Amino acid sequence: MTILITGGTGKTGTALARRLQRENIPVLLASRSGKAVESFKTVTFDWTDAATFGNPFQAASDIKGVYILTPSAALGIVDHVKTFISLARSRGVKRFVLLSASMIEAGQSELGQIHQCLIDSGVEYAVLRPTWFQQNFGVTYLTSIRDQNSTFSATEDGRIPFVSTEDIAEAAYQGLTAEPSLNKDLLIVGPELFSHDEAAKLFSTILGREITHKRLTIEELKNIYLNFAIRGEHAGRLAEADSFIANHSEEDIFNSSADKKFVGKHTLEEYIRHNRERWISTK
Ligand SMILES: NC(=O)c1ccc[n+]([C@@H]2O[C@H](COP(=O)([O-])OP(=O)(O)OC[C@H]3O[C@@H](n4cnc5c(N)ncnc54)[C@H](OP(=O)(O)O)[C@@H]3O)[C@@H](O)[C@H]2O)c1
Repeated sequence: MTILITGGTGKTGTALARRLQRENIPVLLASRSGKAVESFKTVTFDWTDAATFGNPFQAASDIKGVYILTPSAALGIVDHVKTFISLARSRGVKRFVLLSASMIEAGQSELGQIHQCLIDSGVEYAVLRPTWFQQNFGVTYLTSIRDQNSTFSATEDGRIPFVSTEDIAEAAYQGLTAEPSLNKDLLIVGPELFSHDEAAKLFSTILGREITHKRLTIEELKNIYLNFAIRGEHAGRLAEADSFIANHSEEDIFNSSADKKFVGKHTLEEYIRHNRERWISTK
């Protein structure tokens, strides 16, 4: 049995591949580049190009489970993903695990429509709805922490149970292998809540220099995302997500009942200590 990991060269995909490898479960990593990751088998695959959808099944004849990761900025791909799910089922795939997000309910926006499609089609499935990744501090905030000693958000005093991509991979592993299949969505949270002010204080302690959190308006944040070359509509949606956090959306998720969530083990402190060098300028 092979597990196909779409977005396999990314953060959660690579962590999931390592987790499955520990159980001797073969994996096939799919991405547009098809670039090599460690010793894993890879294949080229593009959610926006249906001509690539048969590639994984040529590369492995026994794919039984698929981790569906659609790129966050991709809009207008729901029909493509549905087409792929039908093809995969016709090639013997039994189970799908979708990476969605804490703020997206079934049926809402693009990821929620894919979530709804899994429910309606009667396949074995799990939908992972993680809160914000700890790893964002090494991507979105990497240069601002390293070069300007600051983070930024419009989350005000809202707190977030930042989750590790390794814990998301663990939840994905369970969703792909649990018997019987989970057939539900799970909120994926880290073990502790932090406001952005508190996270900046933790950075200050670990890096040994003062890191501050700049409090922005939604419009200021949107402009920063636009400067990152994130497309307009997506930049707006990402920035608006901070207003939900300011209104305690992620604290409510953290406090939701145990049967609705998967609580990761890895702490934000562990993540920062382990990656400390990344935020130290070599200039
Ligand atoms: N960051 C957060 O706080 C957060 C919170 C909740 C949910 N999420 C969700 O997490 C997802 C990102 O997960 P991640 O961090 O593991 O990913 P990632 O590290 O950003 O990697 C993205 C992966 O997708 C591949 N990819 C990009 N465009 C593609 C396309 N058109 N067709 C096929 N593959 C494509 C990339 O490889 P190539 O470029 O070579 O194709 C790469 O393997 C997003 O859907 C986001 O909405 C993120």
